[in-house]
Amino acid sequence: MSKNSTKRVRITDTTLRDAHQSLWATRMRTDDILAIADKIDNAGYYSLECWGGATFDVCMRFLRENPWERLRRIKEVCKKTPLQMLLRGQNVLGYKHYPDDIVDRFVALACENGMDIFRVFDALNDPRNLETAIRSVKKYGGHAQGTISYTTSPVHTVSAYVKLANELYSMGVDSLCIKDMAGILTPGAARELVHALVKSLPDLPVQIHSHMTSGMAAAMYLAAVEEGAGCVDTAISTMSSFSSQPPCESMVSILESEGYDTGLDRKLLGEINEYFKGVKAKRQPASSNKVEAVDAGVLVHAIPGGMISNLRSQLAQQGALDRLPEVLEELPKTRADMGYPPLVTPTSQIVGVQSVLNVLGGKRYGMVTDETRHYAAGYYGRTPAPMDKKLQKKLIGDLKPITCRPADLLKPGLAAAAKEIPSKFIKSEEDILSYCMFPEVALGYFKWRAQPDDAKDPIPADLEMQKNGETTSAAPALSEEDAKFIQIGKAFAALMASCGGKFDASALAVPAAPATPEGTKAAEPAKPAAEPKGTAVEAPLNGTFYRSSGPGKPELAADGAEVKAGAPCCIVEAMKLFNPIKATASGKITFLVKHGEQVVKGQKLAVIA
Ligand code: CO
Repeated sequence: MSKNSTKRVRITDTTLRDAHQSLWATRMRTDDILAIADKIDNAGYYSLECWGGATFDVCMRFLRENPWERLRRIKEVCKKTPLQMLLRGQNVLGYKHYPDDIVDRFVALACENGMDIFRVFDALNDPRNLETAIRSVKKYGGHAQGTISYTTSPVHTVSAYVKLANELYSMGVDSLCIKDMAGILTPGAARELVHALVKSLPDLPVQIHSHMTSGMAAAMYLAAVEEGAGCVDTAISTMSSFSSQPPCESMVSILESEGYDTGLDRKLLGEINEYFKGVKAKRQPASSNKVEAVDAGVLVHAIPGGMISNLRSQLAQQGALDRLPEVLEELPKTRADMGYPPLVTPTSQIVGVQSVLNVLGGKRYGMVTDETRHYAAGYYGRTPAPMDKKLQKKLIGDLKPITCRPADLLKPGLAAAAKEIPSKFIKSEEDILSYCMFPEVALGYFKWRAQPDDAKDPIPADLEMQKNGETTSAAPALSEEDAKFIQIGKAFAALMASCGGKFDASALAVPAAPATPEGTKAAEPAKPAAEPKGTAVEAPLNGTFYRSSGPGKPELAADGAEVKAGAPCCIVEAMKLFNPIKATASGKITFLVKHGEQVVKGQKLAVIA
């Protein structure tokens, strides 16, 4: 028998948040949850993770649900088990730093609506980005869990993590989470890290969060528990593995075999799992079946799988998919230049897009995104390792570098946000916070909600609802993926600027023309009666043709104007990525397609004579 025969280990269930976010594009609905909530509440979990950025966004955007209502209804049923959420520190649930008043009010209302445990993290592990959120959680009586966003680099040593944990401890956190979002934490490294944390801070409970992406998480959990971690995150088996958490039932058996008691009711776990088999049949998007069981590549290059698929689609849009190996080689170098940020939203997008530009541009940092500039100037927080001063200066350009807490530069924002929403749409203060997090999405939801029931567009029950939602929704929809593509679009704003074109990157947030649903084939264009002669300007890819770079922007070249070879004369947009198209010759340009028209690769857009 093991010496640990009386030791208790607790388990947090991620089925209602991370699991369906990782496996099903976050498509679980409130009714799916409520039908099983009572059994989950009685199973003996430490906590139920049920809220986070993507769940909040998808609730309003695609499911036409109020995320606050979801929280309240879960709380009505789950009275025994604490509810838990993932909070991006000063970013709350969004992609930017919010002023302190918004962070504080969001946390206050989350507590009021039933949230108990707040796992607060920052992509850069900058404690200054966590302090307001942690203070507010404590103020409103919640459990503040500080977080280490785990990554590997020469500066991410055990002692650096212990130092961070001590800073979080002195800020008053109730527990600590090691958040291994990429699934790269090995059992050996976990053993060493947890041992050092428990030794340094014996009063601070340690919880581990990981993903099965690389296949190591269950073995790593056991190693961490043996060193004193008191809680691990799992998902019910049907909702586990692949890019989700390790399976709960298997973890219970692994831990029991080593003499640990999880306190979970196996009979209930079985019933919960049976239930989710049925939900899976209804809610799993067809595309999610393509996920590989284990991404062994993560073990070699430590680049999260989701990031590689983003790089692949960016390169595919450029007709440069063959350069993926170069980008994968460039990415760790760019990350090192930028001070080794952990690769998680938003740093994964900043580093990813910059790496693509470093390869496609032919010259490293010849093109620099706005995000990279702001990152280098300190607007996201302190970089884990200091950046090379010369490179930093080059990247920042005319931006003023800062060393203060980024949110110190922000004025209170709640009152101003409230004024931006038509008052007929505001039903509660929670609505204002929803708007602060996802403005366009929230407005789209409010408009939908305000209609009489028989006028509301039905919520598609089928698996293709994302596409339908995107094309029928009145409000421009921005999913987490869309937001990433906007970052990419902004990268091309920088490209435009570098080649002399005027470009308003903010225009990308609201597409000038309806976005093309992914995978939709552009119709074969009607041929003009008589095509003028001259040098052709062809579309480099399938997409939407634009004469200007955004709503209200002047045309890049007027029809019939003289253009210079190499100057951008129009744009082809695909998947929200704006590609400036250069004039192929000098002379008079005649356009053959209309602004906003769909074009196919190789199609003549204009002739220059
Ligand atoms: Co996760």
